[in-house]
Amino acid sequence: MAHPQILLALLALLLSVVVSVNGSLRRIPIQRSPNFKRTRAAAKAEMFYIARKYNLNVATNSSAVEKLSNYDNFQYYGNISIGTPGQNFQVQFDTGSSNLWIPSSQCTSTSCMVHTRYSSYQSSTYKSNGSIFNITYGTGSVSGFMSQDVVSVAGLVIRNQTFGEVTSESGTNFLNASFDGILGLAFPMLAVNLVTPFFQNLISQNVVKQPVFSFYLRNNGTTLNYGGELILGGSDPKLYRGALTYVPVSYPAYWQFYTDSIQMGNTLISMGDAAIADTGTSLLVAPQAEYTQIAKIFSADSEGVFPCGKINKWPTMWIKISGVSFQITPEYYLIQEGYYCALAIQPADQDFWIMGDVFLGRYYTEFDVGNQRLGFAPVNAANTLSQSGVLGLLMVLAVYKIFFH
Ligand SMILES: *[C@@H]1O[C@H](CO)[C@@H](O)[C@H](O)[C@H]1NC(C)=O
Ligand SMILES: *[C@@H]1O[C@H](CO)[C@@H](O)[C@H](O)[C@H]1NC(C)=O
Ligand SMILES: *[C@@H]1O[C@H](CO)[C@@H](O)[C@H](O)[C@H]1NC(C)=O
Ligand SMILES: *[C@@H]1O[C@H](CO)[C@@H](O)[C@H](O)[C@H]1NC(C)=O
Ligand SMILES: *[C@@H]1O[C@H](CO)[C@@H](O)[C@H](O)[C@H]1NC(C)=O
Ligand SMILES: *[C@@H]1O[C@H](CO)[C@@H](O)[C@H](O)[C@H]1NC(C)=O
Ligand SMILES: *[C@@H]1O[C@H](CO)[C@@H](O)[C@H](O)[C@H]1NC(C)=O
Repeated sequence: MAHPQILLALLALLLSVVVSVNGSLRRIPIQRSPNFKRTRAAAKAEMFYIARKYNLNVATNSSAVEKLSNYDNFQYYGNISIGTPGQNFQVQFDTGSSNLWIPSSQCTSTSCMVHTRYSSYQSSTYKSNGSIFNITYGTGSVSGFMSQDVVSVAGLVIRNQTFGEVTSESGTNFLNASFDGILGLAFPMLAVNLVTPFFQNLISQNVVKQPVFSFYLRNNGTTLNYGGELILGGSDPKLYRGALTYVPVSYPAYWQFYTDSIQMGNTLISMGDAAIADTGTSLLVAPQAEYTQIAKIFSADSEGVFPCGKINKWPTMWIKISGVSFQITPEYYLIQEGYYCALAIQPADQDFWIMGDVFLGRYYTEFDVGNQRLGFAPVNAANTLSQSGVLGLLMVLAVYKIFFH
């Protein structure tokens, strides 16, 4: 039998390996909006929001759309803290925009009052900036002024982060959402007022080892407290199956890349179309001509609705990226409402696709800022944040047991 001291040293070594592996990655648990349901009305309202976000023209019946609420679409969000001492906020981590903003204590509208507001006078690390911003979203816009302070996410501290303090909003129910603000994770080119985005500060301040972040979004509807993870500084191979398939970013503003082809069953829908990975969108958005082809397969009406029948009789959608086919089965790209189904794919007057959570919820996504590329792999639904922690511990205990018996 081995000497207990050697075994203890070995155990300590094992523990330190586990700790250092976890130490290089920072995990931010993401919550899923409790009231999120992908309904037809929500999809229509979201399309209006997406159109404004991407400056698109969509044939919408604005009198009908105005009545729809789209809070439900902003489904994934997590905690950050701003200032010293830290003031906590819940923000949507959005790879489709590049600014950080939260409500200001100077905002007294009802929608600000129901959220956590940032008070600069309560923070010893606050620095004023004062430049004005106005970001157009959804059915309206938010505006306010810029400020600078310390931002902490999962224990990582970023100094001198410039962000927006929202003082007013018009025609949008943004601030009525489950979260307080938005933290944009797209490239600097998209940043309003040319503010250096959060992740670029994280890199330049050497806070993360690798200029990479990744998302695991649970597409499951059952878990509200654990909706997924944002991982800063790398990827966690426990959360996906197989190897990541990489594709270069074709233009570093949005997280944009080229698909090889997109098929619905055996029907070729497109070849070489551009697409954007957007965690802040729940749907799939297709260029109008491609959407028309898809709608034809389902004999869908002008609203994208058709008699559903058995959902799994419909074809699988295949999105080929860097030679690898990623499938989306009908239960993910269709919205079933009783006898009818609607496409969770919406048309827009543009030449690129938007891969929202319908896609990103099936595929773990690595956003590699340093190499300007994206990596995709099927999510490993069996692994969760707590489970991987427990597994690590069980492994150590198992080794300990083997040696002591
Ligand atoms: C637009 O919406 C209004 C009100 O809901 C409805 O009466 C009208 O028929 C719609 N028009 C179209 C073209 O769908
Ligand atoms: C976020 O922070 C609040 C308190 O500020 C806490 O109640 C909540 O559990 C946190 N959520 C997560 C997912 O960590
Ligand atoms: C405010 O922030 C912007 C963007 O970071 C910067 O260009 C500008 O110089 C700042 N202005 C002041 C007064 O600090
Ligand atoms: C933050 O800004 C101050 C000057 O306002 C500067 O002295 C400090 O080095 C900056 N810190 C970082 C981490 O950039
Ligand atoms: C933002 O700008 C737009 C267009 O310039 C304007 O219509 C809107 O009222 C502004 N929003 C706010 C909240 O000031
Ligand atoms: C939006 O905010 C208002 C005012 O606080 C509240 O009455 C309403 O229930 C909120 N709606 C949702 C969907 O949260
Ligand atoms: C949903 O969650 C359950 C339990 O966590 C898991 O077994 C199942 O595979 C998940 N389904 C999907 C489609 O992710």
